[in-house]
Amino acid sequence: MVDKDRVVSGDSQIEDDENELSLRPRFFAQYIGQQDLKNELAVYIEAAKTREEALDHVLLYGPPGLGKTTLAMVIANEMQVQIKTTSGPAIERPGDLVALLNELEAGDVLFIDEIHRLPKVVEEVLYSAMEDYFVDIVIGQGPTAHPVHFTLPPFTLIGATTRAGLLSAPLRDRFGIIAHMNYYSETELAQIIIRSAGIFDSRITPEGAKKIALRSRGTPRIANRLLKRVRDFAQVAQKKVIEAEIVNSSLDLLRVDDKGLDATDRKMLKMMITFYGGGPVGVNTIAANIGEDVETIIDMVEPYLLQIGFIKRTPRGRVATTAAYEHLGIAIGKNNY
Ligand SMILES: Nc1ncnc2c1ncn2[C@@H]1O[C@H](COP(=O)(O)OP(=O)(O)OP(=O)(O)O)[C@@H](O)[C@H]1O
Ligand SMILES: [Mg+2]
Repeated sequence: MVDKDRVVSGDSQIEDDENELSLRPRFFAQYIGQQDLKNELAVYIEAAKTREEALDHVLLYGPPGLGKTTLAMVIANEMQVQIKTTSGPAIERPGDLVALLNELEAGDVLFIDEIHRLPKVVEEVLYSAMEDYFVDIVIGQGPTAHPVHFTLPPFTLIGATTRAGLLSAPLRDRFGIIAHMNYYSETELAQIIIRSAGIFDSRITPEGAKKIALRSRGTPRIANRLLKRVRDFAQVAQKKVIEAEIVNSSLDLLRVDDKGLDATDRKMLKMMITFYGGGPVGVNTIAANIGEDVETIIDMVEPYLLQIGFIKRTPRGRVATTAAYEHLGIAIGKNNY
């Protein structure tokens, strides 16, 4: 099953909250990368502030750990408003949503993480809230049930999801700003690593940061996590400065290879190649064969393999590319174990 300890997982559940908080950029100036998106948002923010209106609703989507939650907080800070944070599965009934909306002041941000997991009944209440700042809900049950109309202050909903495809069209259409988060370049990741090392009071060479960046699968959360592990190795080895050499030896020990692939990624590719001649293989089959759940494969394993061109999606399933064969050192067409 999925290792919550998977060192290259973009997932946040294993993160130590305190660390995560101190590392989070608070303003655009500290938020590295996603330049086009930042430029665009900066315009909308300035315009909304000048008009003294709430910012339009924003949908952020992209793989885990790319900075969606962080960006939502940055937006609220730049707008100089309060932010309330919740998540789709946490809002079970329309009443829960109304309680949250009730606490907002004009211009505030409501951040709903995993918005694709919002229950349908709640989603429907959200439509009028987003569009016209009111909700109509029924309070009580049986003979005492009665409709109640709430007017809301103008607010900004920021929704985050790893899979925009799972959002219903009516919900998606109510977001004025839809932003796709991209994987980060190695240069950007190296900058993030250097910034985080500064916060940790650790010294790292540019070369060392680059080596970590190389193995971070385009993801800031992974970059920060690898930095923490490498920092431990460096400390035990009594190195005052984190250099390329200690980075490489620690990451080899963690079995993260030079493409940022870990044991799970390699297991998946190897299985596709040796059992299915490279594919096409359906995602359910992949999941069953390597003992992971389908969600994990779709959200956490496959996006990066697609991004670096190690697999392709076809109507009949996933296919391993020649780049994957080469990376694993398996000759094409030779389905040996
Ligand atoms: N652009 C960035 N610049 C610097 N650090 C960043 C940036 N984006 C993310 N980080 C760091 O990466 C960590 C993960 O970011 P965040 O929690 O915002 O990701 P997420 O996209 O919300 O992930 P999830 O999908 O799991 O909710 C944060 O702790 C933050 O320190
Ligand atoms: Mg998040």
